[in-house]
Amino acid sequence: MQISPSILSADFANLESELRRIANADWAHVDVMDGHFVPNLTLGLPVVEALARVSPIPLDCHLMIEDPDRWAPQYAEAGGSSVTFHVEAARDPRSLARTLRGLGARSGMAIKPGTAWAPYEDLLPELDMVLVMTVEPGFGGQSFMADQMPKVAQVRESVRRHGGEVWVQVDGGVSATTIEQCAEAGADVFVAGSAVYGAEDAAAAVDELRELAAA
Ligand code: DX5
Ligand code: ZN
Repeated sequence: MQISPSILSADFANLESELRRIANADWAHVDVMDGHFVPNLTLGLPVVEALARVSPIPLDCHLMIEDPDRWAPQYAEAGGSSVTFHVEAARDPRSLARTLRGLGARSGMAIKPGTAWAPYEDLLPELDMVLVMTVEPGFGGQSFMADQMPKVAQVRESVRRHGGEVWVQVDGGVSATTIEQCAEAGADVFVAGSAVYGAEDAAAAVDELRELAAA
């Protein structure tokens, strides 16, 4: 069970110290938004490069951008240890996932709430992680969509049949009250933005989430 706090809810004026607050987490989740794939704009390659230089934990880059075939490999080169692209935006997800692995990153593929899993099941051999969105991508602090749990279970079942070690990540509205149902459905990597950075003691919030997920 791994926790990946989203720095989208961190203080953008002090990102280095905000990363230190979650040094006990497994990953730092970095939400890259381009204002086109989603109606919000966050940060890009130069910031990811800078974060990679100072982060005490590996970066889990979630790319909510158009044309990931062109841009995602550059996030691996910039220091993203895990790079997740949206399948809705990718032209050739299979080749993109292979390219990411070739660059030494873990390859992740994300699906929005309205996107079905079944058509992409055969991509599993190229993937290290599948991200099932539990909110519409674009903003932190939205309500958890429990209706995505059957999809999490479907992905977990595909992974079990496939046999490889592919992680199943959930992202959006994950908190102490929603994380257990995610774990029960089969998720093993949990992104939490407001639930971690909104807490007085972010590190304690990470530990609590990890315990709840493992319970
Ligand atoms: C939403 C982002 C999430 C977001 C999660 O588009 O992908 O990573 O930061 O924030 P919370 O945990 O507050 O829903
Ligand atoms: Zn995210």
